[in-house]
Amino acid sequence: MVPVNELIRGFSLYQKEYEEKALEVLRSGWYILGKEVAAFEEEFAAKLGPCSCAGVDNGLDAITLGLTASGIKEGDEVIVQANGYIATMLGIMQCGASPVFVEPDEYYELDAARIEDAITPRTKAVLVTHLYGQATRMDPILEVCQKHGLDLFEDCAQSHFAPYNGKNTGLFGKASFFSFYPTKNLGAFGDAGAVVSTDPDIIQKVRVLRNYGSDRRYHNIEIGYNMRLDELQAGLLRVRLAHMDELLANRRHIAGRYLNEIKNPAITLPATAEECEHTWYQFIVRAGNRKGFMEHLKCEDVASDISWEVPPYLQPCMREKFGYKEGDFPITEEICAHIVTLPMMEHMEEDEISKVIDAVNSYRE
Ligand SMILES: Cc1ncc(COP(=O)(O)O)c(C=O)c1O
Repeated sequence: MVPVNELIRGFSLYQKEYEEKALEVLRSGWYILGKEVAAFEEEFAAKLGPCSCAGVDNGLDAITLGLTASGIKEGDEVIVQANGYIATMLGIMQCGASPVFVEPDEYYELDAARIEDAITPRTKAVLVTHLYGQATRMDPILEVCQKHGLDLFEDCAQSHFAPYNGKNTGLFGKASFFSFYPTKNLGAFGDAGAVVSTDPDIIQKVRVLRNYGSDRRYHNIEIGYNMRLDELQAGLLRVRLAHMDELLANRRHIAGRYLNEIKNPAITLPATAEECEHTWYQFIVRAGNRKGFMEHLKCEDVASDISWEVPPYLQPCMREKFGYKEGDFPITEEICAHIVTLPMMEHMEEDEISKVIDAVNSYRE
């Protein structure tokens, strides 16, 4: 069976380097907030573009800390796309703020044309998620934010090094939030995340908040958290970061073959906007009869998945809190009813890619 993803492949690609780094950190005797975290923060920021970075324990906490450090608080509203991932909404809610949903565009990204209708006197910000690895078209979103005096934030958990007009996602907003969950394009071997900003004061505040609210040892200036990135994950992330260009090229190669060779009128391929680049965190197609298509793939020995079947506003916790119901966001519900995730990972053999293509092409509705 060709898997949708298989993390051991990513490990095997640079196994010796990962093992050496793990041993180096273990033997160093220093495990929390040391030279590996500092070096990762510097190297990640340097590769992204002009910005500063604070490593934290995961992507959800990056959102919570980054928004808090940027002044989002109880009672505020933050606009997000209705087909985004639940963690983005949870991060907003951890700050006491509320997510307000708008429908996505034809690229599955936040539709700038729909933002104005969602603005209320409580709206403080727009939080864009660059979904599936593709950069969102930022100019029209920046324009609406400027017009209404809203802050812009970016959830880059799925879009490491995906540029819009040549500039990396993560460099457009007041602060940006990264996850290094193991499946991500830059994945750790456990939980990890980061907040990035061009404003050093926000990053300094995140550094304080992540470490019990302390600006120096045993001196607490904020009601803080323990949301630190650890040395082992930071060290392993540095190894992977050094290979980032090859890893992204592998994904682009797989996606390129899918886009050129999948030819089946029953299957809709993903589209990429001209100004945006796709880094193929996930390769998402659409099928009219999803169940039938996924069953066919399984019979052809190809695994597939759905990212995700239930939109965040219809999850039980959100229905209960905000009273959302089916039909509130029909474009999102149509997407969630038909999307299928094809195999995409750090390394695939050519015959595996061909097997996926043949399986998709042999499907009949
Ligand atoms: C868009 C998005 N935001 C936030 C997160 C949360 O990241 P983490 O799992 O590291 O907390 C994820 C992770 O899957 C994500 O895909």
